[in-house]
Amino acid sequence: MVSGGGSNLQAIIDGIKTGAIRNAEIALVVSSNKLAYAIARAEAEGISAAVFEPKDYPGEEARNDAIESALAEVSADLVVLAGYMRILSPALVARYKGRIINIHPSLIPKYCGMGFYGRKVHEAVLAAGETESGATVHFVDEGVDTGQIILQRSVPVQTGDTPESLAARVLDVEHEIIVEAVNKVTQRRIEDESTDQRFG
Ligand code: GRF
Repeated sequence: MVSGGGSNLQAIIDGIKTGAIRNAEIALVVSSNKLAYAIARAEAEGISAAVFEPKDYPGEEARNDAIESALAEVSADLVVLAGYMRILSPALVARYKGRIINIHPSLIPKYCGMGFYGRKVHEAVLAAGETESGATVHFVDEGVDTGQIILQRSVPVQTGDTPESLAARVLDVEHEIIVEAVNKVTQRRIEDESTDQRFG
């Protein structure tokens, strides 16, 4: 699920191609923004993309219901929020509990939660005089950026950093850990399923 440039989506696309992500395919790209470059990235790979813009729905519940139907239609096993800038409805989170992951550009539990997204995160990190920042992939639960952490990777804050220079350094590790996390979760799910089958 995307809303913007889709560089994390691209990392997943490339990770599947190189085999860094095994036994997985992208069934559908869901965007909350019809202008998201992420859509062009999907289409360049022949991956289906569907747009669900808030202005086209009476409310978030209806929009999330429509997203839920689209995910069910492709039998999605795992939902990856890759720069998706909307909060999921409780119904969607409940339906995919344990099967939704999100990437956040800070070392959770620092600089996360309502209002901490994009540039605001890096501005706060710099304003606090932190010597390091980083990225986190976590399971999505009912809260905002509060689910179980899957992977984190830190980067140094450098003298003279701007929110843009820090964001770029963090984005590099985002692209690493989103691929590692997707592979980790899909492999664990496959192992769990095979275990279940073995013991009936
Ligand atoms: C990333 O910094 C991600 O952590 C945040 O939004 C940005 C998305 O970038 N949620 P992209 O759309 O994947 O390039």
